[in-house]
Amino acid sequence: MNEILIELEKRRETARAGGGQKRTDAQHGRGKLTARERIELLLDEGSFEEFDMFVTHRCIDFDMEQQKPAGDGVVTGWGTINGRLVYVFSQDFRVLGGSVSATHAKKICKIMDMALQNGAPLIGLNDSGGARIQEGVDSLAGYGEVFQRNIEASGVIPQISVIMGPCAGGAVYSPAITDFIIMVKDTSYMFVTGPDVVKTVTNEKVTAEELGGAATHTRKSSVADAAFENDDETLAEVRRLFNFLPLNNRSGSPSRPSFDSPERLEVSLDTLIPQNPNQPYDMKELILKLADEADFFEIQAEFAKNIIVGFIRLEGRSIGVIANQPMVLAGVLDIDSARKAARFVRFCDCFEIPLLTLVDVPGFLPGTGQEYNGVIKHGAKLLFAYGEATVPKVTVITRKAYGGAYVVMSSKHLRGDFNYAWPTSEVAVMGARGAAEIIHRSDLNDPKKIANRTAEYEKRFANPFIAAERGFIDEVIQPHSTRKRLTRAFASLQNKKSQMPWKKHNNIPL
Ligand code: HXC
Repeated sequence: MNEILIELEKRRETARAGGGQKRTDAQHGRGKLTARERIELLLDEGSFEEFDMFVTHRCIDFDMEQQKPAGDGVVTGWGTINGRLVYVFSQDFRVLGGSVSATHAKKICKIMDMALQNGAPLIGLNDSGGARIQEGVDSLAGYGEVFQRNIEASGVIPQISVIMGPCAGGAVYSPAITDFIIMVKDTSYMFVTGPDVVKTVTNEKVTAEELGGAATHTRKSSVADAAFENDDETLAEVRRLFNFLPLNNRSGSPSRPSFDSPERLEVSLDTLIPQNPNQPYDMKELILKLADEADFFEIQAEFAKNIIVGFIRLEGRSIGVIANQPMVLAGVLDIDSARKAARFVRFCDCFEIPLLTLVDVPGFLPGTGQEYNGVIKHGAKLLFAYGEATVPKVTVITRKAYGGAYVVMSSKHLRGDFNYAWPTSEVAVMGARGAAEIIHRSDLNDPKKIANRTAEYEKRFANPFIAAERGFIDEVIQPHSTRKRLTRAFASLQNKKSQMPWKKHNNIPL
């Protein structure tokens, strides 16, 4: 018995050592933590339970039988974050570059199956040289099995991918299918083909960082949802994000005790909207003032800044917020902002997270750039996402709500449950000047007449009352009481039941 225990401890020691001290030092030297150190930071202290620590690959090509590291380059298992169950895999770059063999993939699949079976989220910490080259097609098959499980789990359990090193080639497609991609600045990158191939095929010279680093994917491509300074900060933020998410699609939006009164009035909101309707203001200020303890986890903060999306809590319950940002492009909807918001709305809807929409939108961005690139199709994504969402939907129009964009932004017509407007709101088919110029085209050459017509139109239509008279707005509310109104509205919708007709799945414009 004793001998077995000694053997067990020895085997554990060897598995934990990964590729040895030299490789651990190299990992640290790059400012990166090891796979196990990362798991320790991600999970509650002492909560990690490992699976398959002794698994080895079975490859015999290229002398691979000479190196059979225990664990095969990935640490897998489960634990808790703030006491809530989560399944984790963490690739160990110290072991054969964290490359994915058939058995490495099998280990990941095992915990994916467990996560799906037990209704708990999956977090993948990616740091890998990709397909294990010595294993060839067996490795590709392993990836395929992971992809298939990612797809099956989509909309059932939240899946978060954290990119903490290389993630290249087809390997990027597992994270791409998951709900959120979080990157570490300077030490992680993602691309389908690397800089050398790019140079050969297109003659472009580009570094790995420029091609697929965190700045590229958070600002240009929108592949990543957020990026943080280093491993420590990234894992702390992943814990924060996790706290906003339900365990699965049936467990309901998570709730925790809140010490911020739902009755809290915010008098400063009464003067948030400037007198001049063309002057911007910061919509984030409103979000922070509405949220419990001003806690807001923003998704894609660096991309399409004309729309803001992320999570807050009201009375302790997670709420997804979508808000036009008048500070950027006057808050217009365009291709990027519609895509960004549509994906967020759909995530919340899959996981029963209620939606709060804050509207100040002058319309869709005009121009050939937008039309040629398909603003019709991409704008329709947001319209579709709101229309299909059956979670509680509460909307507050703070200022402009013009034209098609008014309808898109969770209007009553798309089954909004509560549609509020501030007294400063203007629900209209378009801005007053544009409207006057179209209706009174014959007056176009007379600036005075056009100004009078504009003022006339403004007086009649630039307010919330016409929409309120028709019941498109349920109530015109005072800005200072918005938090109180919202908490009451969401509380009343807790048992909302709404269903779309049966279908295999819908055909959202892609
Ligand atoms: C086997 C690999 C490996 C791989 C790295 N290693 N990638 N072993 N298969 N894919 C090994 C290295 O041989 C080395 O072992 C150790 O890991 C560390 O790698 P280094 O090259 O020393 O590290 P570094 O300089 O940091 O470079 C990291 C790297 C580079 C940029 C990731 O290793 C690299 O380019 N690797 C190959 C990437 C690749 O082409 N992968 C296949 C892509 S195709 P020793 O023992 O020498 O220290 C793909 C398809 C997926 O992934 C398809 C899914 C459908």
